[in-house]
Formats: sequence, structure tokens, C-alpha cells
Amino acid sequence: MPESAQMSVIGKPQPRVDGPLKVSGLAMYATDHHFPGLLHAVPVEATIANGRVLKLDTAAAEKMPGVRAIFHRRNIGKIFRSVKGKGFENICIERRPPFEDDDVSYYGQYVALAVADTFEAAKAAADAVLVTYDKQKPNVETDLKADNDPEVVETSYGPENRLQSERGDPDGAFANAPVKLDQTFVTPSETHNPIELQAATAIWDGPNLTLYEESQSIFNMRDVLAQMFGLPKENVRVITKFVGSGFGSKLWPWTHCPLAAAAARQLGKPVKLVLSRRMTFQSAGHRARTQQRVRLGATPEGKLVSLQHDYVYQRSMLDDYHENCGEATAFQYSVPNLRVQFGRAKRNIGTPSDMRGPGAVPGLYATESAMNELADQLKIDPVQLRVLNEPKIDESLGIPFSSRHYLECLKVGAENFGWSKRNSEIGSMKRDGLILGWGMAGAAWIAARFPAQANVQLRDDGTARVACGTQDIGTGTYTILAQLGADKAGVPLDKVEVALGDTTLPEGPTSGGSMATGSVIPAVFAAADKAIEALLTVATTTTGSAFEKRKAEELAFEGGRVFVKANGPAGGVHFADLLRHANLRLVTGSGKSEATFGEKKPKFSTHSFGCHFVEVTWQPEIARLRVNRVVTVIDAGRIINPLAGRNQIEGAVVMGIGMALLEHTTYDPQNGAPINSNLADYIMAVNADVPKLDVHFLDYPDKEINQLGARGIGEIGLAGIAAAITAATHHATGIRVRELPIKIEDLLKSSILA
Ligand code: MOS
Repeated sequence: MPESAQMSVIGKPQPRVDGPLKVSGLAMYATDHHFPGLLHAVPVEATIANGRVLKLDTAAAEKMPGVRAIFHRRNIGKIFRSVKGKGFENICIERRPPFEDDDVSYYGQYVALAVADTFEAAKAAADAVLVTYDKQKPNVETDLKADNDPEVVETSYGPENRLQSERGDPDGAFANAPVKLDQTFVTPSETHNPIELQAATAIWDGPNLTLYEESQSIFNMRDVLAQMFGLPKENVRVITKFVGSGFGSKLWPWTHCPLAAAAARQLGKPVKLVLSRRMTFQSAGHRARTQQRVRLGATPEGKLVSLQHDYVYQRSMLDDYHENCGEATAFQYSVPNLRVQFGRAKRNIGTPSDMRGPGAVPGLYATESAMNELADQLKIDPVQLRVLNEPKIDESLGIPFSSRHYLECLKVGAENFGWSKRNSEIGSMKRDGLILGWGMAGAAWIAARFPAQANVQLRDDGTARVACGTQDIGTGTYTILAQLGADKAGVPLDKVEVALGDTTLPEGPTSGGSMATGSVIPAVFAAADKAIEALLTVATTTTGSAFEKRKAEELAFEGGRVFVKANGPAGGVHFADLLRHANLRLVTGSGKSEATFGEKKPKFSTHSFGCHFVEVTWQPEIARLRVNRVVTVIDAGRIINPLAGRNQIEGAVVMGIGMALLEHTTYDPQNGAPINSNLADYIMAVNADVPKLDVHFLDYPDKEINQLGARGIGEIGLAGIAAAITAATHHATGIRVRELPIKIEDLLKSSILA
């Protein structure tokens, strides 16, 4: 057997290569870095959500022991407003730099910053700063009506005609439809809550700034900070070696990042700023609350004739983050008449931002719920309704799908779940004294590539190195890069060194949009090919080499060995031997790949697909609802690491259980504060809430995305799950819940109570 076949690690379950570092505590997270003279910063949070700072009394705080400075608008120094570039350049969702003026537009907005020798001293000083406000009533109204707002949304999310979509005559077709559904679905604000808190440690060395930050996008962070401090990009370095998860909250810089840097600049010392959990609820993004009206028109046989999706989402007073709920609406089902449109409602809240499956996750909750309700209305099986409306092409763009196996997802899901045994009558299915509810829903998530660059080395000790300035946010990117390096270099996984998380490395992709894996593959492969090319040149030009008389075209490289193509691998020489013979430590190659995300006129519609089948148990005596069983099928192209892949989908389903049953951030109507801004009051699904999860991958390569056909798996697993759970809940209890999360009060309305 050729060595390469033996060693191919692509598509095989691989434990995390960084696992030992993590479990032994050697992995250095952003806040694990300490420096001589390090100072600690704690922000002062506004206790109003709307108004102005009239007076800051810092006198008492300044005199406290260990305090170095209390910074505010008048002494922090200049922080420039960053300017968004084209597409994905310079993204900073909260555009107002900290301390820009005296206005306060959300609760928890930073109004001052205490810096001291210890965290405790800084916290005490921050608490001692007295702030006088001109306080106005905040608007945190939960009923969302679109503002009359002519501002155009600028978005990077793919084809322009996807932002608002229209075809045919949706109003006329709806009016004439024999069967109609018109319902409004509400999703609450949710907060990301990665366990690792956000934090920045800033160090200046003359005109050079280094920032340790747990970023999902270090190059964007670098570019935005360079703008904020008026520096060339080269003067800013961002380091993110490990991330304790992000879910989108760490994609873009928040105001604490420039604050740490500005304080370090003013004091000439390294400054560390770690957010409290409460601060992450206030000023580090959240999923926007949405209110979505879905209108479906259908024939009695179940063919859709009209689909309208009108959604409104909340945004902050100053920022225009777009929650793209209609992302999947325009292509998921075949329907000749369709309209997707949105409105926005300004509120006195910190700006919403991307949260796992932004847009599509709340959007698909609404549209998939509507499909389930329509199926019940038509007395058609919900799987069958979806089969009946399967599109042949992406009807919104008039282009083919690169690879869509949605019907197979439904088939595999139904079989594994045992869906054919479903009795559609409410409350009719029972097991062990519990009522069972069965529900399902479909899923979709965009697949595309960010631009990426990488470097690959082959070294004289028989190891390879893969360098790419992307991040591993806990999803397994270290392992993916090692797998790619091992595959190309023909060495075992443990002979590959992976370097990521540093802007001194080749510019890697954002860890977002489920696009990191798909983006790094072509860049790493191109870099490896260059390194191999360099190796072949070494082989043919080194005196005394076995290949000295050959031309590079006559040679091949496989399984770590160079050999003459015509002779086959038998007489091959390992790259380490060749390099040592040539007295070279290494050969190196750089490669890059272009973005496909944001293409305005794509040739193919590239998405991942999937579905969830859910069983809930309902105990009417005590109104107790549990998610008891979930079968998930995912069509996400080729799965590079099924172990980490499965882990991603399971994690997303856990988050979906939280979305359906538990998670919501609630704002106090009096002062605008997120009330449940801690992990005791913000309830997430934990192990006790989660049954055994059954995940299946279809594993059809999508060659439009990259050579290996890998799309992405970070977000697709959260799409649709909430709709499947609410459908199962309805099947068990007879209660339709159209506002998430499902609350005990909702369930107490069930007539199926003992
Ligand atoms: Mo994801 S919301 O792109 O981290």
C-alpha cells in the first residue's frame, strides 16, 4: 500500500491536535498573558440607557490605593472612528468609538475607565466614580414596528437581490390562494455567552501596538485598530492563540478593545481589560429580537403558490447591523410568487450583531414553523409538504444549486427517526405514561469562501508546518490545518506544526459564517504545492542527489517522497533526506485563494442543507416538557473531520434546545438594562436538558467550494431546530407557540392537562 493512502487523514475522525494543551492548562488564552508592569482596567458602565453624562466626579476614585488613572472623554486621547471598507474590510459594528461624546444610547455603555495595579483596585475605583446624568426614558419596547427609515442597508451578505427579494405577484397569488396561512413569529434577544469572557491586553512598543484578544477575526481587528489609532496596519499586531468559543460575539471589535489600547498608550504600560459577564450582555453584541410575519398561499394538494416573509428586527440607536432573516427564504422552496422584505426598529440597546446562524436561524424558525402549520392545515405530512415544494434551481437567482441533497436529508432523517410511525392526532402518541410529540423542520445555511493565504514548510526533520492567520475558536481549526498539512506532505498528523492566530502570519480567514474550513483548504493546498515544487527543484539541482539528471516534470511527490514518475514510488526519497543532503533546513511555499462570499453574480447557489426530527415528552400532570430525542441530518459537503464535525452539529442542537425552551435576554423597561445579565438568570441548555443526539452527514463533496468539497458546519445545525421543537410541542400539547422561548405559561394553556 502506498504510504500516502495509509496516511490520508482527510475525512477520518481525528481527535483535536490541541486537546492535550487545553486539558493540561498549557493553552494560552488571551487573558493568560502577563507582562511586567501590567495594569488592570475596569470600565464604568452607564446606568441609564438614554441621555447624557452631565458630570463625572472622579476625585475619590483617583485617590484610591493602586489607582493609576481614571480615563474619560477628556483625557483618553484621540480614538478615531473606523471606516467600513468594501465587503469585509474594516468591520466594526458599534461604530461610535468609546467616549466620543457625552451621549448615552444604551445601558452599560462605557463612560469612564479605571486603571490600577490590580483588578480589585481598578474595580473599586470604577465603582467609586460618580456619574450624574441627564436621564431620558429609554425605548426598549418589545413590540417591533418598522421605523420610517430611508437609510439603505449596506450588507456583505451575498447577491444584492437577496436582501429584499421579489418574484411574480405575491399579493395577488395570496389573495386567490385556496389555502392561506398568515402568522407572526417572534424571536427574543439572545446573548452569545461563550464561557471565555471578552478581554483585551494591549502593549505599546513605541509606535507599535500588540493586542492579545480572543478574536474570531484577527486581521479585521488589526485593520480596525490601525484606523482607530491612526497607524499603518503593519504597526498593529493581534494575537489570538486559543478562544473559549465565540458564537459570533468575538467576530468584530467591541469598544473595550480601543479602550485598553488607549489606556496603555496614555500610561506607557501594558493594560489588561477583562469584561464582566454583565458587560458582555450590554456591550458585546447579541442576537436581535425579531418579529416575522409569514404568509403562505397553497393549493389544497400542498403546492405553494405564494410566500411572503416580512420581518422587523431591533437595532441600536447608532448602528445598522442587519439581521438577515430572509437569507434562506427566497430559495428553500419552489414558489412562483414571493416577497421578502424587512424593516428595522431602533431601540436603546447595545448594538445587536452576528450570533451563530445570524439571520437564517431566526428566519428559518419562522418560515419552517409556517410550513409545519400549513401542513397541519392541509392535513399533509410535513415531510411530504417539503417534498412537494422542492425546487429544481435557486428560483430567486435563477441559477443551479452547486449541490443540494435536501430530499435525501429528509429521507434519511425520517428513516432514522421512525417518522412513518407518527400518528398526527394531537396527544395521541404515548410511551411509559408520557405523551410524545413529534416534529420536524428543514435547515439551510450559506456556504462560501473568504479570501485566505497560507504558508507551508517541509523541513529537514521530517516535519511540516502549516501557517495561516486564522483562528481556532474551539471548532477544530488547528486539527483541520494539521490534516491538510499531513495529507499534502505525506506525514502523520503529529509531524505537522500548525501556526495560527497571529497577524504576523499570512492573512487567514475570519472564523465566521461557517467558512473557515472551506476557505483555508485551497490556500493551504496551493501553498503546499509551491513547497513541493521548491522541493522538486532542490531534488534536480542538488549535486549527488538521486534526481540530479532529471527534470522537475519527470518527478512526482507522494507520501512524503520524491520519485521518478515513470519508476513509481518504489525508489523514492523522503523529503527530509533530500533536504539534509542538500544542506537545507526547509523548503517553503505560499498560496492564496479568493473569496466567493459576497459575489454579486454567482454561477451557483452554494448552501448547506439539513433537517431535524425531534421527539418531546409531555407530562401533563406537572406540565413538564422535555426534548427526548433528536435526529439531525446534514448535507454540508465533504466532512474533513467527522469527530469535530459531529461535535459542531451536536453543539448547535444543544443551542437550539436552549433557543426553543430557555434563552432570552430581557430589557428592563424602566432603565433599559438587560435584566438577566448573568449565567444564573440567563438560562441555557445544559447536559441535563439534552438527550442523546443522533447526527448523520450525507458527505457529498461540493467542488464549487474547494478541491475537497467541504462546505462548513458551524452554524447549519442551529437552523430549523427551534421550529422542529415547537412543532413537536404542538403535537404533544396542542399548543402553538409562536414566540420563543416556549414558556411554562404557554404550556399551562394545554387542554391535555390532567
Ligand atoms: Mo458566526 S455568527 O459567523 O461566529
